[in-house]
Amino acid sequence: QRIYLEGLWGRKPPVPVHPEGLEEAARRRMSPEAWAYVAGGAGLERTMAANRVAFDRHRLLPRMLRGAKPPALEVALWGRTWAAPLFLAPIGVLELAHPRAELAAARAAAQRGLPFMVSNQSSYPLERVVEAARSVNPEAVVFFQLYHSSDPRVVGSFLRRAEAAGCAGVVLTVDTVQLGWRPRDLDLGHLPFLKGQGLAQYLSDPAFLASLEEPVEGPSLQPRLSLALLRALLALRRAGKRVGVEGLSRLLKGVRRFVATYSFPELSWEEVRQVREATALPLILKGILHPEDAAMAVALGVDGVYVSNHGGRQVDGGVAALEALPGVAEAVGGRVPVLMDSGVRTGTDAVKALALGAKAVGLGRPYVYGLALRGEEGVGAVLDHFLAELELTLALLGVKSLEEVGPHLLAS
Ligand code: FNR
Repeated sequence: QRIYLEGLWGRKPPVPVHPEGLEEAARRRMSPEAWAYVAGGAGLERTMAANRVAFDRHRLLPRMLRGAKPPALEVALWGRTWAAPLFLAPIGVLELAHPRAELAAARAAAQRGLPFMVSNQSSYPLERVVEAARSVNPEAVVFFQLYHSSDPRVVGSFLRRAEAAGCAGVVLTVDTVQLGWRPRDLDLGHLPFLKGQGLAQYLSDPAFLASLEEPVEGPSLQPRLSLALLRALLALRRAGKRVGVEGLSRLLKGVRRFVATYSFPELSWEEVRQVREATALPLILKGILHPEDAAMAVALGVDGVYVSNHGGRQVDGGVAALEALPGVAEAVGGRVPVLMDSGVRTGTDAVKALALGAKAVGLGRPYVYGLALRGEEGVGAVLDHFLAELELTLALLGVKSLEEVGPHLLAS
């Protein structure tokens, strides 16, 4: 109501309310390289488009005159309370959008009681992100998202750090054993990691740093890397940060080793089993689309299944995440919570995903756009707009509580 009334008094919201306006404003603000990386998808971006079409295809069927007050939005998942069935999906290299990156986004989420998932490829170490979130809300819920490195020592070290920092769980992303084919980045010849961006988790990790002296397999990237890093170094200096020769050499070695080890193309259920055994934290598998994979995950003892196609950034022509959701939810059969993301843009999208079996939805690109436009305040505004529409839509549908949300709310 506050948001609505402020709007009607002619006060402009901090960032555009309409998702397309938000996107367009961010596009104008961001560099072409940052925009390509964040907004782009795999191949012809057919899966990215399909994610939206799937939401558009489902229609809600409101009930009237049910005497329904706006329902409470809180949900309890993995022993923590979330203010709403909404979380910030893990997104790497947020420094592309704003220098305060994860620190700003995690604070905006924590202030609203929403979980933040810090990416394996983040711009600040996870400890700093947890600290930033806790500084505004001691109960802040932060998950750590893990990519399984080909170096098991780094995997173990990341898990220990997530435990020590008090993360609420580990989200193991399994759809990115290799980076998808992304024409927008390729055409600009740009990948942030090669400039040393998004490596904070690694460059702050004792196991990773200890491995820097070991030989690295694969093509030598040295001459090209040096050039990219020199540019990065100059940018850092312009921003007032001094990085010496030693720092540069460590960065150079770090980038090379990162490229060689950040993923494990042969990843299999065996590693899932190992990660399951290696930590007592709740373990959620992200990137599941096939019902049989979902059933296997539950059989292996994971605590959550996260339906996602990585926002259409991996397999072009792959199924929309929302289309895959009912099959996964059925295979899981309520044994563990199901999360979903990919294409979620509005509060009504969230209702549709909840109706099809998700316990909560992840917001991805839109919060990055808010971050690019206005930092922490921008992320906060995107979240406020989303939550307001979610609450309003449930009330207008005649829903009295989240437990009532189910497929009967959908006309098709
Ligand atoms: C991502 N995503 C992602 N996922 C993950 O597990 N680890 C990561 O580091 C990243 N990094 C990342 C960077 C960028 C720029 C984007 C857009 C996405 C995927 C993310 O968690 C989520 O699945 C998608 O963003 C959902 O799609 P939409 O809703 O953003 O279109």
